[in-house]
Amino acid sequence: MTTFSVDELITTAPEASCDADLAAGPWAFDLSPGYGPGASEDDVIPDPVVRPGQLPVAYQRMDEAELHARIVAAKETLGDKLVVLGHFYQRDEVVQHADFVGDSFQLANAALTRPDAETIVFCGVHFMAETADILARPEQHVILPNLAAGCSMADMADEDSVEAAWEELMELYADEDQSELASVIPVTYMNSSAALKAFCGRHGGIVCTSSNAATVLEWAFARGRRLLFFPDQHLGRNTGKAMGVPLEQMPMINPRKPGLGVDAQELRDARVLLWPGFCSVHKRFTVAQIEQARAEHPGVKVVVHPESPMPVVDAADAAGSTDFIRKFVAASEPGDVIAIGTEINLVNRLAAEYPDRTIFCLDPVICPCSTMYRIHPGYLAWVLDGLLEGEVRNEIVVDDDVAAHAKVALERMLAALPK
Ligand code: 13P
Ligand code: SF4
Repeated sequence: MTTFSVDELITTAPEASCDADLAAGPWAFDLSPGYGPGASEDDVIPDPVVRPGQLPVAYQRMDEAELHARIVAAKETLGDKLVVLGHFYQRDEVVQHADFVGDSFQLANAALTRPDAETIVFCGVHFMAETADILARPEQHVILPNLAAGCSMADMADEDSVEAAWEELMELYADEDQSELASVIPVTYMNSSAALKAFCGRHGGIVCTSSNAATVLEWAFARGRRLLFFPDQHLGRNTGKAMGVPLEQMPMINPRKPGLGVDAQELRDARVLLWPGFCSVHKRFTVAQIEQARAEHPGVKVVVHPESPMPVVDAADAAGSTDFIRKFVAASEPGDVIAIGTEINLVNRLAAEYPDRTIFCLDPVICPCSTMYRIHPGYLAWVLDGLLEGEVRNEIVVDDDVAAHAKVALERMLAALPK
């Protein structure tokens, strides 16, 4: 029997996972004893990963006004030599300094619009900065202000496990006629390491984002009998389902089990092989929250990100990327009530932008993406001051060979326009 969601098995005490003070006042929270802008450096980080450098104490102690002034001054001095990109999930104190704010697909394109900039400072997470480095000109530097800003979902698929699963599948499908359609096309979600994007480039595959996933799946189905989709099971399942792929043809593999934990015939009949990854922010959204929103606000419109579990996407009125959610709200009418299932910084920003509508987060225990949150303005000020001193701090450099293959898969992604 196919299990549809491993993360349902993970039980957490929701109240315990977030500090209410954080939602009430991020700045106050950052300055509270024991936390502070450099606090993420104290996190336990598994080996082998890149280790963040220390944020100098002077920057940890600077107040909001001074950091703001430093960032503004550095940007002014650096002018066109610098471009700052900010993901929708970044806190407002960072977003206000971004030259482009957008979803992953838009920011990958935004990096390409400024080929003359010497430096791209990416206020987002590690895989986004890697992507910018792969797409950038060789002379351009890409900086991730805090190297500890990763993505827990991206970490759920590593190169060795994907390679091992791929070999097992290749063995199983070895008797299939490959003349017109390949047996499997690898599709990686943008939220993955450069190594996995390179894997897709090497094996006739492609990268997708949440905004162009449907176009990418069509591209892949035109070339293969089935897809291996990683790391996000939910985006893969939700997109496949919306395209009419039956659930029983979307088994979730378990890369740690013999035979990938799925019956061999089921693997043969599969159209989408799902990797068991998930986003810890979006897995918090539930159908019960939607039912409660509908009971408390008759007529409420519910929009969620497709990293949410399938029953949540099914119960919502609409699902789409962070930019889709932004446009959904922009297209609403004054007086509308909108419940959103995505990261809190974006929800709060939309609520502030449209004060004539009632906009709230589906999850009552307001949780930010803790890794996006690691881009504190202290780090931004520190890397920009570094540029003024001629020093490139926290640079992201993807190995040339990996970048060359990853670029193939990324260029296919850029050509697959969102519908
Ligand atoms: P978007 O591509 O929709 O911006 O999503 C990125 C992400 O990490 C959502 O969790
Ligand atoms: Fe990764 Fe989830 Fe954060 Fe997006 S919200 S960056 S998928 S952990």
